[in-house]
Amino acid sequence: MRDKKKIALITGATSGIGESTSIELASQFSLILCGRNQYKLKELSENLKDKTDVITLNFDVRDQQDVKEKIGSLDNSWKNIDVLVNNAGNAHGLDLFHEGKIEDWDMMIDTNVKGLLYVSKSVINYMIKNNKGHIINIGSIAGKEVYQKGNIYCASKFAVDAISQGMRIDLNKYNIKISQVNPGLVETNFSMVRFKNDEVRSKSVYSGVNPLIGEDVAKVISYVVNCPDNVNISDITVLAKSQASSTVVNRN
Ligand SMILES: NC(=O)c1ccc[n+]([C@@H]2O[C@H](COP(=O)([O-])OP(=O)(O)OC[C@H]3O[C@@H](n4cnc5c(N)ncnc54)[C@H](OP(=O)(O)O)[C@@H]3O)[C@@H](O)[C@H]2O)c1
Repeated sequence: MRDKKKIALITGATSGIGESTSIELASQFSLILCGRNQYKLKELSENLKDKTDVITLNFDVRDQQDVKEKIGSLDNSWKNIDVLVNNAGNAHGLDLFHEGKIEDWDMMIDTNVKGLLYVSKSVINYMIKNNKGHIINIGSIAGKEVYQKGNIYCASKFAVDAISQGMRIDLNKYNIKISQVNPGLVETNFSMVRFKNDEVRSKSVYSGVNPLIGEDVAKVISYVVNCPDNVNISDITVLAKSQASSTVVNRN
């Protein structure tokens, strides 16, 4: 039997910001951890099970039918999701527009935009029924400023920005809060994915920067989630001290 904590569903819980957020929220929430990597989901849920009730949902956010079925199959005691953290996403490639790869573009639009929509649609049904809920979309500084070669990743995060604004307006009368957290440089697996496991190139992104780490962003997400009910942090950008903009970074 699940104890009576509120319920948070986190996508992309198997790495980086999503994993740190799962750990950070475990003291207050029952957790629905979502990811593609079954092994990592199991490992994380094992590690957290002494702190809270945890279940896992194994799906790729790009698979609309699977998202709908897995979230739709939640037991009654897990359906009343209070907090959704739409975190799953990545950049794929860093190329001039005319040199970009269609498969990278598809991956970013399908995951960062369409995946976020599929998960939101399934969870929002429960929230509307309950007339309460809080959705935190993970945007990016790339959704606020376009930088050279950022093109489609930036477009996907600008789309998240517009989606957050649209959700906030349309869900306003259902008592649902929409927040967006926009990180700058965070040292996670993000650059390894962007640069297709090129370790040297990935490391160079953070060299001399003292970047954010997943826990830094998780703490901000926890702050946003824990504001009084009448307060909504609608949009917050979180940067390492050494980062001034998408392209201005003080490297020592
Ligand atoms: N790191 C940064 O500098 C930075 C800056 C701004 C914004 N962000 C945003 O922060 C979010 C988290 O990124 P991160 O930095 O924590 O990177 P990360 O360590 O690579 O984690 C990304 C997470 O998303 C999951 N994911 C990716 N594609 C998925 C899919 N199709 N279906 C289900 N899950 C999927 C990954 O699972 P798999 O391991 O199975 O791929 C992983 O759990 C992303 O939305 C990213 O755009 C990151």
